[in-house]
Amino acid sequence: MALRSLVSRKTLGLASSGLKLQFRGLQTFSLPDLPYDYGALEPAISGEIMQLHHQKHHQTYITNYNKALEQLHHAMEKGDSSAVVKLQSAIKFNGGGHVNHSIFWKNLAPAREGGGEPPHGNLGWAIDEDFGSLESLIQKMSAEGAAVQGSGWVWLGLDKESKKLVIETTANQDPLVTLGPLVPLLGIDVWEHAYYLQYKNVRPDYLKNIWKVVNWKYAGEVYDKERA
Ligand SMILES: [Fe+2]
Repeated sequence: MALRSLVSRKTLGLASSGLKLQFRGLQTFSLPDLPYDYGALEPAISGEIMQLHHQKHHQTYITNYNKALEQLHHAMEKGDSSAVVKLQSAIKFNGGGHVNHSIFWKNLAPAREGGGEPPHGNLGWAIDEDFGSLESLIQKMSAEGAAVQGSGWVWLGLDKESKKLVIETTANQDPLVTLGPLVPLLGIDVWEHAYYLQYKNVRPDYLKNIWKVVNWKYAGEVYDKERA
């Protein structure tokens, strides 16, 4: 996740020693690069969608997240509890948008670079064990994604306690972690902005085609790391 640190220098004068201490770090976030060209996922997802989705939608979440974090910083400096509480929904929504999209870009890969290739190794075996087959997992995730009311996400996650794979959905930009000790392996954005320019109102068609560019290799690496 792209991160840069802006240091808000608050100087505290210490009368007795003459030393000047400082520093309340305020971290802000910036748009991560896509690991492929905008048009590289075609025909599953058009270059126009990818460009708008990345440059406009994701950037807007980041801009508003940074703004909310800055306001939070000032509210905390002032000890303004009401303002701190008031900022929580903006932080959850925009910070969630940044977290979710940063995962989403890595969950996709051009077909010529392995996108759509079934998972091998431990994740492949776990999918067979927990869902019967990759096909039935895909069917279940697609159905649950299609059924999300309004905007949200459908996830394949690893439950860190039971060590089982789970399929979950979240509303709006809620990250998977808001549901419990779950690690996101694969998240599919089912907001209209992710498909409408190409698939219009037919979300199931988008959910049928996106599997052709799913980066199972990345999901498998996250799974292995979490199970290690
Ligand atoms: Fe999105």
